[in-house]
Amino acid sequence: MEKGKFIVLEGLDGSGKGTQAGLLVEEMKRQGRRVYLTAEPTSSSTGGMLRDALGGFVGRDAYELSALFLADRIFHNANSINGIKKYIDSGTDVICDRYYYSSFAYQGIDADLKWVMDMNLNCAEIMRPDLCIFLDISPEAGEKRINDNRFDREIYENVQSQKRIRDRFFEVFCLLKDRENIKIVDASRTVAEVSADIIKIYNELKEN
Ligand code: TYD
Repeated sequence: MEKGKFIVLEGLDGSGKGTQAGLLVEEMKRQGRRVYLTAEPTSSSTGGMLRDALGGFVGRDAYELSALFLADRIFHNANSINGIKKYIDSGTDVICDRYYYSSFAYQGIDADLKWVMDMNLNCAEIMRPDLCIFLDISPEAGEKRINDNRFDREIYENVQSQKRIRDRFFEVFCLLKDRENIKIVDASRTVAEVSADIIKIYNELKEN
């Protein structure tokens, strides 16, 4: 049986990943594909610990956070109920809102980047995506979207952190250019324009 495609959407907070993931799902279904939409952190108990830390309710250092994200990601890939591997093997496409690139960019600033990368990239239980689409916006634009849409703030959601995180994403994409399929999309445009680009990239992936 043909395997499903594993597609990750990445971007700064406020980059529109959730909206764009939903639109891509609609298009894929329209094309008759089976698709499973998921996100990290997951809704597992480890995901709950991560949400508490991200909300600032529990203090954890970057190494602890990296290890928790790793545990959550292993569960996300390998669990036998709704694990990513199970879907891919049964021919269903998977779209994931954030994945290990976020660990590199967010935790890889205060924890050693090489350590964070090695433990994710060398873990046999963690699948390599067929495609990562990075929705690129300026930290200031992301800040504005967060202000317009939300009350509460997570620990990384300030312009200064987002600037460092965006730089780290680009550094990491350079380091990974020979082993990963990463496409950068200008997400400062209208929802429809960004979505059209994402669908074009998805269609190209299917043809390969
Ligand atoms: P986000 O996509 O903003 O989810 P929501 O809109 O539900 O808040 O992701 C939550 C936060 O998790 C975001 O600030 C980035 C962070 N994160 C990491 O720091 N490392 C990781 O490995 C992942 C997957 C997410």
